[in-house]
Amino acid sequence: MTLTNSTQTALDDLYENARQAARNSYSPYSRFRVGAALRLTNGEIVTGTNVENVSYGLTICAERSAVTAAVAQFGPAIRIEAVAVANLNEAASPPCGACRQVLAEFVLPEAPVIFPAEDGARVLPFSAILPLAFEMKPK
Ligand code: THU
Repeated sequence: MTLTNSTQTALDDLYENARQAARNSYSPYSRFRVGAALRLTNGEIVTGTNVENVSYGLTICAERSAVTAAVAQFGPAIRIEAVAVANLNEAASPPCGACRQVLAEFVLPEAPVIFPAEDGARVLPFSAILPLAFEMKPK
């Protein structure tokens, strides 16, 4: 994705917010410390982190925890204009499929998503990481 210098700098800042959020990770089972940061169209930045559970399937990912925090703080009309995901494990970690579908509810299709890939941070528009999201449009 081609970005202007100022957009890239703003995205780097958002990525740093995600890294900071990962420091609060509750991940005693996987030890995988993930943080997510969302920039909303109202200019606010909201972060989340993964919160694991002894009943593993009840774990919530960083991205979904950020989305629920954003709605809780700013209401149901929020729009997400940029997404950053980071981890403290120096591992590639694109957002999981479930989180992509949850983000789809609020994210602008062309919002940049920055995440750790094999060869450093990678940026893709949201529409590229979740083509054909589930939607319910009765005929
Ligand atoms: N995890 C996230 O926080 N985000 C993702 O997109 C995928 C995985 C968390 C869940 C779990 O706590 C740990 O990473 C290992 O799967």
